[in-house]
Amino acid sequence: MKTGRRTFIKTASLAGASFIPMPLLGAGPAKRYRTALIGCGWWGTNILREAMAAGQSKVVGLCDVYRRPLQVTADEVEGASGDQPQLFDDYREMLAKVRPEIVIIATPDHWHAMPCIDALKSGAHVFVEKPTSHTIGESQAMLAAAEAGDRIVQVGLHRRIGPHHVSGMEFLRSGKVGEIGMVRMFVTGGAGGKETPSPNSRVPTGMNWDLWCGPAPKRAYNRKLSPGGWRNFLDYANGTLGDWGVHWLDQVLWWTDERYPKSVYSTGGRPILGAAVATETESTTDAPDSQVAVYEFESFTATWEHRKFAGNQSEKHRIGAYFYGTKGVFHMGWRDGWTFYPKGNSDSPVHGNPDFSDKKDGNNLKQLWQDFLIGIERRTQPVANLEVAHRSSVLPLLGMLSYKLGRSVRWDGDREQIIGDSEANALLRRDYRTPWVYPDA
Ligand SMILES: NC(=O)c1ccc[n+]([C@@H]2O[C@H](COP(=O)([O-])OP(=O)(O)OC[C@H]3O[C@@H](n4cnc5c(N)ncnc54)[C@H](O)[C@@H]3O)[C@@H](O)[C@H]2O)c1
Repeated sequence: MKTGRRTFIKTASLAGASFIPMPLLGAGPAKRYRTALIGCGWWGTNILREAMAAGQSKVVGLCDVYRRPLQVTADEVEGASGDQPQLFDDYREMLAKVRPEIVIIATPDHWHAMPCIDALKSGAHVFVEKPTSHTIGESQAMLAAAEAGDRIVQVGLHRRIGPHHVSGMEFLRSGKVGEIGMVRMFVTGGAGGKETPSPNSRVPTGMNWDLWCGPAPKRAYNRKLSPGGWRNFLDYANGTLGDWGVHWLDQVLWWTDERYPKSVYSTGGRPILGAAVATETESTTDAPDSQVAVYEFESFTATWEHRKFAGNQSEKHRIGAYFYGTKGVFHMGWRDGWTFYPKGNSDSPVHGNPDFSDKKDGNNLKQLWQDFLIGIERRTQPVANLEVAHRSSVLPLLGMLSYKLGRSVRWDGDREQIIGDSEANALLRRDYRTPWVYPDA
């Protein structure tokens, strides 16, 4: 698989903008797109709120395998917009019946690829959440589906458009940090302690658990899994590296001219949470509680580390990426904005404040959605288009691949193959549970 550079030509249409007047283009009433949401959980409803607020969506369909969040979202939509979307538990039925023009996908990661590909094939534009997929092969298939058509895809990497990320990136590129030879990305914190297994239990009334598990292995239902907890179950996601690491690895790929690392190594484990438990009666999570990944690029080394224990005030920043340069250290953060610490401690730090469109959850989904709409109307590539987000998603997935394999991998990023290691290459995909069929590119 070879990915081109074409998207870099037309991106960043809204980068840095914190307010975009409506309607987006020209005079007259803005077009309202028939919009549908798959996955009515926390983040899906965050995105849908921005879609409704932008004034260019008529919500025609909602889909969730669990009746409760589906109905809560339907009530909110009706209250906010008066729209009365049709409700579904199977996205395939929704695509066929309501023929949406825009589909938002905010399901757990194992359920990104198929809905995205099917929505594109049905002719819809897609806003899909990060990381693009659970395995690298799925993401390749999503990209192939996008490239085969003319629909616009935006991926939920809102840090690509957040004002302090844009200004921080300008600072990094200005030369004020000097020559950068190393980047360290991290998420740390949490109380820690051994994880107690929870009893597996009856599937809640109104939840289609078989469909929730879908193409992934079907585990016994446990309340640790859903909502939200699936992030730390490796059948459905890729732990903290997949969930958080993708945002910071995306910042690194945004900053560098290099397109991919030449090797990746990751190690970690569950020294504090303890061994994973998955019996017929009880379960713990199984993702690592601490992990290090090393990405070797031509001109710099990037590392990732997360730790879910020993959270305290001893470290100045607890999330983000340090860029180490010959003129000082630059920290790209989240709620703490960005800060440059000049070399030698004699000069004062330089700081950029964060500016979120959603202060509660600390995101810039509003700008990301508007950039998506501009992409649809002008047929330009949005900032977090599928090619960009695919390459950023491959990095955490490669880190997890190395973690599972227990050795480093050499990466041919042009062909998207691991060099000289058939066992490792086999992990770029996985078998789907019957009757689902893996979407090879
Ligand atoms: N960009 C960001 O900063 C950001 C932040 C949070 C979450 N996310 C992403 O959003 C996605 C959802 O995360 P969340 O925290 O809202 O999870 P969640 O568990 O709260 O919600 C997921 C919903 O999807 C439903 N679902 C599962 N399988 C489905 C299927 N086949 N069809 C329809 N619905 C299905 C679940 O029942 C649940 O209601 C994830 O990909 C996550 O990585 C992104």
